[in-house]
Amino acid sequence: MAGRWKNDLKWSDVTPKPLWQNRRQILTGVGAAAFAGLAGPGRALAELAASPSAFSTDAAPNTLEEITTYNNYYEFGTGKDDPSRNAGKMDTDGWEVRIDGLVDRPGTWTMDDILKDTALEDRIYRLRCVEAWSMIVPWVGFELSDLLAKVGVQSGAKYVAFETALLPDVMPGVHARVLDWPYVEGLRLDEAMNPLTILAVGLYDQPIPNQNGAPIRLVVPWKYGFKSIKSIVRITLTADQPPTSWNQAAANEYGFYANVNPEVSHPRWSQATERRIGSGLFAKRQPTEMFNGYGAEVAGLYSGMDLARNF
Ligand code: MTE
Repeated sequence: MAGRWKNDLKWSDVTPKPLWQNRRQILTGVGAAAFAGLAGPGRALAELAASPSAFSTDAAPNTLEEITTYNNYYEFGTGKDDPSRNAGKMDTDGWEVRIDGLVDRPGTWTMDDILKDTALEDRIYRLRCVEAWSMIVPWVGFELSDLLAKVGVQSGAKYVAFETALLPDVMPGVHARVLDWPYVEGLRLDEAMNPLTILAVGLYDQPIPNQNGAPIRLVVPWKYGFKSIKSIVRITLTADQPPTSWNQAAANEYGFYANVNPEVSHPRWSQATERRIGSGLFAKRQPTEMFNGYGAEVAGLYSGMDLARNF
């Protein structure tokens, strides 16, 4: 599938798996020098794929199996394994993303347009769901700010709104009114411009699977997972705070900000600890970190704000 995007090569072709698996050792070991020192075609090909990032955690990623079979994607059903069973029917060929609102160059972008001249990076991020489970996910993507720079954000823009595809023929979940479809999300513009905020198009060294939000989804690692909207078809720059699906469904439970915060409980459960998927039935829960451990990068965005009120 990725072949259409770049040079007729799939990511699985350009990044031999053993090399990918070595990369973390390479990075945490002698760093870039060792990476550059790799011999032969593997080196050039690896650089073609995605480069490593200083924003990655060195915690061990969850397995591909865990990441692709334990999902929240309510359009495909509310069970954790519903998305992996049902999302295969979604056709992402010819996917288009409309970018509009307060931008200089509104328009409709194909995945080729979006990925042209875009440097892909590996971003190994912690993911903390509002339901108090967590994973480590090795995304492949690029900074949202790169795309926003290409469309030209106008000075009146203060927020970015996102919308997921609504495909009733292949999405069994949208026939139930669990949420008001389509799924929508939003960020303040400065949150959207933060270098941690990415649009992911890959997972491990493959195009992102449908159940994880193919072909392009948001990842905002310091916020609860529901902010990280999947299968995006529209991005709109707005002056006013846009509506967001979970906030509309239950405003007392899900705020607009949704920053990971161990001190602010969900009305029905504590957010102080989390269960790491794959850690085993009897594993101890681990403490949840403020901003999911990304406070050094993002706490400044909220200085002076009461995060218990703006939850
Ligand atoms: N995006 C859409 N369109 N629909 C959803 O149901 N679920 C959210 C988020 N994005 C969701 C969504 C929630 S609650 C979480 S925790 C993450 O996706 C889960 O991402 P993952 O399945 O890739 O781990």
